[in-house]
Parts: sequence; structure tokens; C-alpha cells
Amino acid sequence: MKIAIFVSGGGTNLQNIIDEVESGYLQNVEISMVMTDRDCYAIERSLDKDIRTYVLDRKSFSEDAEHNLIDEEIDLIVLAGFLTILSPEFTAKWGSKMINIHPSLLPKFGGKGMYGKKVHKAVLEANESVSGATVHYVTAGVDEGEIITQGTFEIEQGDQVADLQRKVAEVEKVILIEAIKKISES
Ligand code: GAR
Repeated sequence: MKIAIFVSGGGTNLQNIIDEVESGYLQNVEISMVMTDRDCYAIERSLDKDIRTYVLDRKSFSEDAEHNLIDEEIDLIVLAGFLTILSPEFTAKWGSKMINIHPSLLPKFGGKGMYGKKVHKAVLEANESVSGATVHYVTAGVDEGEIITQGTFEIEQGDQVADLQRKVAEVEKVILIEAIKKISES
């Protein structure tokens, strides 16, 4: 299964996928390319492994990405901390082959403008006792696609945004790899 990974940030999830392809756990998976919409640390992780890496303009991202995906016959797109909202044409075409990881228990704390630390801040302000992460298929509605898997953790008294970020990263490491493995074996 050939995958393309879209990133906008630190690339922790990208690194987890790279590690599990290298370890042989994701044995049917080949990372064909990484695409990003901005200058970010994930680019270094990608180039470090000699993965084909594209830095595309946010405004024309969907159109520009399309060409590269078709040329390589990509089977799955993984949005691993990707922040540009893709065009409705793009999601209509690729949605059944495109998954996203989101740092909350969707449908709670999702939608436009809900990403990264903003999600954790909202979770704390709502006095939630549990949070987690979700892997879901991508549709035109932001964070609304069919849920594939979720992982949870307890929020302890005194937890700050940084604590939730750390706990979410641990959960994401497990559920994103399991989702990719399941799809690669189906
Ligand atoms: C991850 O926590 C991911 O769930 C979140 O961004 C982080 C990226 O971290 N995605 C969103 O908020 C999308 N709405 P990483 O770049 O270190 O993998």
C-alpha cells in the first residue's frame, strides 16, 4: 500500500509511521511522499529518510497535490497534523482513501479552528474528565467523517495543556498505526 502523508507541524505522527515501516510492523506500507503546506520540522524528518517531500502553497494545495498523487498511484493519504482545509473536490475524490488524526474524542472539540493546543485548552475549560484522539475518514465537513478508531485517557486534577498534549501524543502513536495497519491488511 502506497501512502502519502500530509503534515504541517512537528511531525511526531509522521515519525511514528516512519519508525513502524522501518521496524516491519507496517509491512505492507510504503511511504511514497510527504507533502506540507508550510515550513515545519516535519520536513526535516522526511528529508532525513530521503522521502520525496513537497512544500506546496496553501492557496492551491489541493490542485497541486492532486498531480503528485495520481502520478504515484497513491492508495491512502494520511493527514498527520495537517492544517489546511482541503477543497470539496479533493475530499470528494479522495475521501474514501484519506484518514485524519484529531486530538480529541470527536464529535467533541472538532471543526474549523479546532487544532493542536486550542483543542486541549477547550477540553480543560469544559472540565472534561476524559479526553483522547480519533482517527477518521475525511469528508468535506471538517472532522465529520466516519470514525475508524479512538483512544482515551483520564484527565487528572491540575493537568495543563502540555499534559494533555503529551497524553494525546501517546494515544495517537497507538491508534494511528493500528488504523493504517488495519487498512493495509483489508
Ligand atoms: C497532533 O496532535 C494531531 O492530532 C493534531 O496536530 C498534532 C500534530 O502533531 N491535528 C490537529 O489538530 C488537526 N485538527 P505532530 O505534527 O507532532 O504529529
